[in-house]
Amino acid sequence: MDSSSFAVRCRNVIKVYDTGSQKVTALNGINLEIALGELMMLVGPSGCGKTTLISIIAGILDQDDGYCEVFGEDLLNMSIQRKLNFRARNIGFVFQAFNLLPALNAAENVSIPLIINGMKRAEAERKAATLLEQVGLGARVTALPSELSGGQQQRVAIARALVHSPRLIVCDEPTSSLDHETGHRVMALLKDVALHKDRALVIVTHDARIFDFADRIAKMDDGCIVEVKGATNRNLSFHQPTRSKR
Ligand SMILES: Nc1ncnc2c1ncn2[C@@H]1O[C@H](COP(=O)(O)OP(=O)(O)OP(=O)(O)O)[C@@H](O)[C@H]1O
Ligand SMILES: [Mg+2]
Repeated sequence: MDSSSFAVRCRNVIKVYDTGSQKVTALNGINLEIALGELMMLVGPSGCGKTTLISIIAGILDQDDGYCEVFGEDLLNMSIQRKLNFRARNIGFVFQAFNLLPALNAAENVSIPLIINGMKRAEAERKAATLLEQVGLGARVTALPSELSGGQQQRVAIARALVHSPRLIVCDEPTSSLDHETGHRVMALLKDVALHKDRALVIVTHDARIFDFADRIAKMDDGCIVEVKGATNRNLSFHQPTRSKR
């Protein structure tokens, strides 16, 4: 498999948070490849580094060591402006805490990625409303986040991550506030809308009810990937992590 077959390639990625009084090694040598067309789930106990890893993959956070490439691009060494443009075009991110803008209604929140990419506001909000309908919120497009339930806010966040048709969607616990049926509906939508042969989906989850949607599941513990389960029909090579001496 040549490098153009991969959405994401991580090699020996290390992240140490330094709070001044303490150093926390959040990632301790991550090796991971996610193929184009693949839905990869990341699981593992609280604090094992899942959010840190996907934040690096999405270019929201810089690693301290190692290499991470998204669609062949090394985000760490990009200029800030190029990185912003790359992320705006290619990446959709569903935050664990949703991160909706409180003063904007659902449709306005969802339209942000389109407006950043240059679409006129009215057209962007029309598109946002269509996507909100697809996540079951057609009747709440003008509601503020504070007027929505946790599960409804989560679906607004998912619609916002999908609206600009990014090539890589990264979701942090996207079904944590959803009931079984809504969770399945959202997962089916994510797979249907987001997953094409030239795209990929990375989903952090504790939710065993959605494991069946994954092509592969990578298990993390203590800053490392300790096991990868799932289909090998994409002929992916996976290298077990080598522990850093740090
Ligand atoms: N900004 C930060 N400053 C210092 N330490 C941090 C920071 N963010 C995360 N950490 C630490 O890094 C480690 C990994 O955190 P991370 O948020 O990636 O875990 P997680 O697997 O997503 O956990 P959860 O399942 O609870 O969301 C934890 O020990 C955490 O306390
Ligand atoms: Mg987390």
